[in-house]
Amino acid sequence: MSGPVGSRAAAPTAPPPGAPVLQVAGLTCAIGGAVIVSDVGFDVAPGEFVAVIGPNGAGKTSLFNLLSGLLPVTSGSVTLDGADITSASPAARARRGLGRTFQASSVFAGLTVEENVRLAAQARLGGSLRPWQLVRRTDRAYEVAGRALERVRLGHRATALAGSLSHGDKRKLELAILLATDPAVVLLDEPMAGVSIEDVGGLTEVIAGVHREEGRTVLMVEHHMDVLLGLADRVAVMHHGSLLALDTPGRVTADPAVQEAYLGDAL
Ligand SMILES: Nc1ncnc2c1ncn2[C@@H]1O[C@H](COP(=O)(O)OP(=O)(O)OP(=O)(O)O)[C@@H](O)[C@H]1O
Ligand SMILES: [Mg+2]
Repeated sequence: MSGPVGSRAAAPTAPPPGAPVLQVAGLTCAIGGAVIVSDVGFDVAPGEFVAVIGPNGAGKTSLFNLLSGLLPVTSGSVTLDGADITSASPAARARRGLGRTFQASSVFAGLTVEENVRLAAQARLGGSLRPWQLVRRTDRAYEVAGRALERVRLGHRATALAGSLSHGDKRKLELAILLATDPAVVLLDEPMAGVSIEDVGGLTEVIAGVHREEGRTVLMVEHHMDVLLGLADRVAVMHHGSLLALDTPGRVTADPAVQEAYLGDAL
């Protein structure tokens, strides 16, 4: 339980002062008699990085699905920037600044890297169909897409087909697609899944930059514990659909209940 996170153990456990950007209260989801997320509650401060960990099947992806509106909430609430979004559609949540990536890779393989990102930028820019505004919006979408690709260090692959990218580059592309929608809060579900060891460092730096330099709030599920614990301000531990612990990386990894949940194999 030692390591680079140990020195963070004295940090405060509460989120920094200021109105939370995300408030989750009593969040529960029951499907066909099975409770897959049970009474989960926590607040996230603007600019905070919260790691979400837990054994396979613990409910991490389901939690993200509830936050992003892909799963119906049975009871409880989700508040984004003071607005109750518990029943809002995924698109409405995205417009309010909540963005996410998926555990399985999801890009248009037959489009170029740049086109994939530009589509997302165009969707965000929305607006009127008047031709003169359309041109301006298209120019702007190119600009936003170019910046997002540079941000994830994929500018040099802009004209490649998305389907031809390595796993690591596909993950970067997904991040660029997300950034093109300019989300205040980003939910990253296993962004390192399928990424080769050599690519993990580069992707970690990109995610750290999105958080620290751009000031976006990040919630991230990841099985690469070393990466996650190095980035996170706090760690939420899911277990059997419930929130088992929410604390600093140092305190969470030293928590006997957390160690028990993992049976010693992941931490
Ligand atoms: N739409 C659904 N309908 C029924 N059961 C579901 C649904 N989505 C998830 N579940 C169940 O909820 C539980 C939690 O699954 P979830 O995918 O959230 O776990 P996870 O923590 O993300 O796991 P992993 O680390 O393997 O990705 C599992 O038992 C899963 O089978
Ligand atoms: Mg999952």
